[in-house]
Amino acid sequence: IIASFQPKLLVGKSVMVTAGPTFEPIDPVRGITNLSSGKMGYAIARAAREAGADVTLVSGPTALDAPYGVQRINVQTAEQMHDVVMSRISAQHIFIAVAAVADWRVANVSAQKLKKNAAGDAPSLAFEQNTDILAAVAALKNAPYCVGFAAESENLLEYGEAKRKKKNIPLLVGNIGHQTFGQDQNELVLFDDKGHTALPLADKQKLARQLVREIAQRLS
Ligand code: CTP
Ligand code: CA
Repeated sequence: IIASFQPKLLVGKSVMVTAGPTFEPIDPVRGITNLSSGKMGYAIARAAREAGADVTLVSGPTALDAPYGVQRINVQTAEQMHDVVMSRISAQHIFIAVAAVADWRVANVSAQKLKKNAAGDAPSLAFEQNTDILAAVAALKNAPYCVGFAAESENLLEYGEAKRKKKNIPLLVGNIGHQTFGQDQNELVLFDDKGHTALPLADKQKLARQLVREIAQRLS
């Protein structure tokens, strides 16, 4: 019902959203992951669809249902997320990277479950850095309009603008990570080439609709 009142600002646009955490295996029963419920990314996918876009949601493991009318592709690892995004990116007008992608994967994944031993030795893990999906998309020759997210724990204004420049993207959305994980509310700061503006504390779905409007304005 609410959806029908949303202005159709993204009709004819294809939007890809990444959401949720990634999960990087250690062995067949264990892995490492990031804190992310997926709520903000799913809310953005829903808001983009309400605005008339054709939406693809590339999601790491979450407990959420796919929003109505959104095509969801489930992945587990950062590498899988990267491969799915890259295989479909040429059809997209807008790319919104909301996923909390693991920065490292385990290099020495064990094919069998690691077992404890009597001496109490802990296993050693080696790590390799994952490809930065957002930076890879932003570097494409015909890159879509790219929006990044940054969850910081401090110095949001400074780190947000630095991250936008480093990733070479037109819009970066910052939030204070530990204040939002798993919550239904959030507050956002938008960084673009003109400076920064705040979207004050609100329900994530309301913020998602505001963000979609901000993106549509910048596209036109
Ligand atoms: N991102 C991505 N692929 C990665 C890492 C991050 O697409 N391998 C995206 C995230 O989805 C987010 C943005 O990059 O939109 C910023 O992620 P963040 O973790 O804040 O930035 P990093 O560049 O990884 O820097 P750091 O974790 O060191 O702060
Ligand atoms: Ca990171």
